[in-house]
Amino acid sequence: MIKVKDLEFEISITSEDIEHRIESLAERINFDYEGKCPIIIAILNGSFIFAADITRHFNFDHEIHFAKYSSYQGTQSTGNVKSLLGMPADITDRDIIIIEDIVDSGVTMSAILSELESKGPRSVEICTLLMKPENLKVDINVKYCAFEIPNLFVVGYGLDYDGLGRNYPDIYTVCDN
Ligand code: IMP
Ligand code: MG
Repeated sequence: MIKVKDLEFEISITSEDIEHRIESLAERINFDYEGKCPIIIAILNGSFIFAADITRHFNFDHEIHFAKYSSYQGTQSTGNVKSLLGMPADITDRDIIIIEDIVDSGVTMSAILSELESKGPRSVEICTLLMKPENLKVDINVKYCAFEIPNLFVVGYGLDYDGLGRNYPDIYTVCDN
């Protein structure tokens, strides 16, 4: 049990489980991108640890960029997605892999997808650590997902509650009392 600000959380995915899932996900991605040179776009802040861990298993050439969007305040999505840092200038005819910490309602991801798709990439795929399928409100295709989780707030392994809790190596789910 950990406490972050006013909320208590219990462990739900251990760092060992995360490591194993990342290895098998990276194996699939290595197979799919062999001989290609995609641009990886890691979405800040939440994906910084996941991006650092999974890209170290990649054995194809790739470039890494970081982009920043924001839609969350506290534990609630505002539905209002703001672009806070730019995407790479030229992605024409390039393969793109977006790395995200979590696809929740999918609103953030669909804003990112429409910005990218207007720039003429060859392909765009999503690689997310977590996904809350029950909460999905838009129709997006997530090709690579490490864990599908219930519709409960989580912290750790890069994910935060009001800026805190990103440093925990494991993933914790909010307690419902
Ligand atoms: P969406 O637009 O509703 O899909 O929200 C996506 C963003 O909200 C993610 O990139 C996270 O930064 C944040 N988010 C969603 N669910 C959680 C959670 O359970 N814990 C921490 N952040 C979350
Ligand atoms: Mg995020």
